[in-house]
Order: sequence, then structure tokens, then C-alpha cells
Amino acid sequence: MDVILVGLPGSGKSAVGRRLAHRHGATFVDLDDSIEKAAGRSIPDIFAEGGETAFRALERTAVEHLGPADPDVEVRRVVATGGGAVIDPRNRWHLYRGRLAVWLDARPEVLAQRLRRSPNVRPLIATRDPMGAIRSLARDRERFYSAAHRLNGVAELGALVERVDELVARRDTLGATTLLRGTSLGGELLIGDGIAAAAVGDALRALHARRAILVSEPGAWEAVGADLATALADDGWSVERILLPQGEGSKRLTVIEEAARALAGLRAERGEPIVAVGGGALGDAAGFLAASWLRGVPLIQVPTTMVAQIDSSIGGKTGVDLPEGKNLVGAFHPPASVVIDIAYLGSLPERQRRAALGEAVKMAALGDERLFSLLETDGEAIARGDEAAFATGAIAEVVERAAWAKVDVVDADEKEQAADAADGRIRLNLGHSLGHAVEAAGGFGDLLHGEAVAYGLRGAVRLGVELGVTPPELADRVETLLTTLGLATEPLPFPIGAVMGALATDKKHAAGSLRWVLPTGDGPVVRSDVPAETVERVAATLLAGSEVTA
Ligand SMILES: NC(=O)c1ccc[n+]([C@@H]2O[C@H](COP(=O)([O-])OP(=O)(O)OC[C@H]3O[C@@H](n4cnc5c(N)ncnc54)[C@H](O)[C@@H]3O)[C@@H](O)[C@H]2O)c1
Repeated sequence: MDVILVGLPGSGKSAVGRRLAHRHGATFVDLDDSIEKAAGRSIPDIFAEGGETAFRALERTAVEHLGPADPDVEVRRVVATGGGAVIDPRNRWHLYRGRLAVWLDARPEVLAQRLRRSPNVRPLIATRDPMGAIRSLARDRERFYSAAHRLNGVAELGALVERVDELVARRDTLGATTLLRGTSLGGELLIGDGIAAAAVGDALRALHARRAILVSEPGAWEAVGADLATALADDGWSVERILLPQGEGSKRLTVIEEAARALAGLRAERGEPIVAVGGGALGDAAGFLAASWLRGVPLIQVPTTMVAQIDSSIGGKTGVDLPEGKNLVGAFHPPASVVIDIAYLGSLPERQRRAALGEAVKMAALGDERLFSLLETDGEAIARGDEAAFATGAIAEVVERAAWAKVDVVDADEKEQAADAADGRIRLNLGHSLGHAVEAAGGFGDLLHGEAVAYGLRGAVRLGVELGVTPPELADRVETLLTTLGLATEPLPFPIGAVMGALATDKKHAAGSLRWVLPTGDGPVVRSDVPAETVERVAATLLAGSEVTA
């Protein structure tokens, strides 16, 4: 077994690591030393010549060179990582899985004092305000460090080594790996591999629940819900189950009434959490149930589709449809916890994963360069669900980047009040105006949501180019990526009148003005002044009779 030590510079990873390795007769690996040896230069020199980007690339190679985790119970290696190694989702995937990861946490004041005495130069902290730099690194990295076992409040080296050794003796859950543990206005967000049962149990305990009330639907239940229920029962929970209809059929007021009556039958009380286990439709419906039952009870979201993991479970929007339109009745009801288990995506049909990437392309087009290039290199393998896409951590990385990008946007504008500001939550509507219109024109039956968003994205960049706000190279890049992913490649067989009619209905619901989110080279802009003729001309390019070019 390997022990991985993570934490800010000055937290004692090397000193603790050496002692721990010595105690177990294990090999000590200092990742920064390995990088310097491989590069033939010191870290300050690597930073001076190639900047942080060059250093992070070397760091990633050094992490990969650690090779696979050793399942043996004996401690074979103790690895001290550089403070920033765990920022990279791929590094965490390699470092945390099958290994014991321990976070040596310490107060910024203690770290600053130690660093003043240290002969090593830390480029990211060697500033005029080292305390400010440490605080900012601590804030930015907390979600990555806190996925590891946290040790805090211990300053003395010997005592710290003892505490790590206690964790070594208790290691029992190396099969499940937490990759990220973040807090946001919308509750706690956990991402991991094989974590669902343990994380739901923890979330229920944090809410003082006396039982686990799972709300799911037949598809998600068969794929993952039943196993989750068994694991919770094995852990001592009394488990109740309420099944809603599968798919969009769950988002109906009559279904909410039936589910509420089931809760009444279970005598569910105020304060008792509901656990939503399913995709976006189930999450929207169960979320609305949690928002309205007894005027609101806590909600734990366990998203089981990719759309739900990267989008719908985050942000607190819940709701149901009416015959007059989708999502017309609903409430903001942020979950207490969102538990994202990457392992759940294995059973998802390819079409579902592929469609979800439409939403991921949207997040990339909003300005996430790393997500963009990741989708360009690995997107097709992710869509197919290739074994390698799971094994290399590519799927986990896409989920994490897209999900956290949404957390960032929602935290900045929780209730969509910055209605016309391009840095507000409205930016998430990129590709959704025309996307929603083609979805509606198809009667919400022909296209999956993400597939419709892909058409909407093509429409948005074409509109942006016509209006001179989207650089043609960016539009090309978005369209080429969509083509690579096999999204929105065929013209749709809907009449233009149906699409324009759906846009007119949306306009009515949006207080008379459609706000178009359009990408620029530097983040999106919001425009309410797009002429109807321009919209119609662009919409027609997505429909049969016109070429869909890429
Ligand atoms: N609230 C929001 O912010 C928000 C954002 C985006 C989308 N949405 C909503 O999300 C819905 C679309 O989400 P969706 O695509 O996840 O739909 P969904 O919930 O209908 O799930 C799609 C299908 O996958 C099946 N399934 C679920 N988990 C599975 C698993 N692990 N393995 C195999 N099959 C599984 C389901 O049974 C279902 O048939 C729409 O209703 C849309 O409006 C909401």
C-alpha cells in the first residue's frame, strides 16, 4: 500500500513522509525531487523558464510514473506530493485511488512561520504577502485536500507521524475513493469513485436522519438504486423507497401528489431528508417534492446520469412540467449534499452519455480551455464509455470540471437575479434558447436534452458570428467539437414555424424579451436586441432543407 501525503507547502509532508517510511521500512518518494531529477533543473528554474504550466506538465508525468497502486496491506511507499499536485483532477485520480491519502492540515500562521525558516524556495509563496498567498492557496485547494483523510491541530512531528500511522492501521475503505469534497451555497458537493453508499450514510447522519427515504424511478433503481439501498441497509439504515415513473413522466404535478401521499403514508416528518436517486428528470421531481412536502425538507441528490452529475443536481432548481411547457412549476431548493459517484455512469446507455456532453461543450464554450481540449482529445471515448475513459480518469475529469464550473456560476448568482449580466447564472443558458425551441418543436420526444442543446450551441455560435460578437475561429472550434462528438450532425425534420413558435412562447414566459447568450473570445455576452429575421435565418440552418455545416 502507498500512503500519499497532501497539504500546503510547510505542512510537513516531507518530514512526516521520511519518518513514516523509515518506521515501515518503506520507500520515501518526494514528488518534487522526482520532478527536479527528471527535468535536470530546480523547481524555481522550471518556473522561471516555462512558468507554472511547464511545472504542472512535469508534475503530471511524475504522478503517472508512480504506476498502479499496490494493494498489499504493508506500507511500501510513502509519497510526499507538491502542494499543488492535487489541483489536477487526473493527478488526484492516480494518487487517491487504492491508496491512503492523508491531508496534513495546518493554520496559515503556522505554515508561514515554518516557511520563513525553510531553505527551499516556493515560487507561489515567494511574494510580498506570503500570508495572503497561503490563505488564497488554502481557499482554492481546500476541496481537493479535504477529499483525503484530514489531520489537523497537530504541530509536533512525532505526534503527526503517530496520527498518520493510526490511519494506516484503520485503512479499510481503499475500494472507495473520494476525489473532491467542496462546499458551496448549494450545499456540500462530493465526487468520487464507488462512494455513494458511504457518502449518503454520512450525509444522512449529518442531517440527524432516523432512516433513509429514497425517491427513485425504475431505470435508475435497477441500474444502481437497489444496490445503494442494500448497502445502506447493511450499514444499519432502515430504508424506505418511493418509485416515480421513469423519465420525463416523473415531472408531473399528479406524480408529486402521489409521492406526497406516499410520504404521508410513511409519516415522514419535518426535517426528515429525502434522497433523490436518479437522472435529471427524477432529480427535478424529487427535488420539487422535497421543496414542497411540509413546506420543505432537506434533500440529498444522488445523480445517476451524466446530465444530472454535471448539471441538473447542482444549483437547486427543481420543478415539474405542464402541458403548456417544461419546468413551469417549481422552486429553488438547494440540496444539503450532492453525491456524485462516477461508477454510476458505467451502466448508462451510450446515447445518454453522448447527449450529456452537449452540456459539457457548453461549459467549455463559456471559457474553460482545459475542458475544451479534454473534450477534443477524449470526448469521443467518453461518449462511447470506453474502458480506458474510466480507467484513465478522463470521465471523472470531465464530470468534475463541468460540475464545478456550474458550482462557480451558481455561487456567484444563486437565484438568477443578475438577469442580464454575462457573469450571472444566465450564462448557463448558452445554447438553450434555440435548444429549447427545437426540443419543443419535436414535442419533447425526439431529442434528448443535451442533443437539443448541441443544436442550440451551433445556433448560438452562428448567431454570434452573424452579429460579429463570436470570433469565427471559436465558432469553428465549437462546431468541429460537436461534429467529433456526433452531436447535432443531422438537420432536424421540423418546420421553421414550429421552432419560431416555441421561441415566441419562451419570449412570453421571459417577460417579453429573449436574452441570447453568445460566446466571445473572452466569456459570453447577453444580447436582447437580436432581430427576429436573423434568428429565423440561423434557425433554418439547423433544419432539413438547409445544410448543417461543420
Ligand atoms: N434542474 C436543472 O437545473 C436541470 C438542468 C438540466 C436538465 N434538467 C432536466 O433533466 C432532465 C434530463 O435529465 P436526464 O437525461 O438525466 O433524464 P432522466 O432522469 O430521464 O434519465 C434518463 C434515463 O436514464 C436512466 N438512468 C438513470 N440512471 C441510470 C444509470 N445509472 N444507468 C442506466 N440508466 C440510468 C433513467 O431511467 C432514464 O430512462 C430534463 O427533465 C431536464 O429538464 C434540469
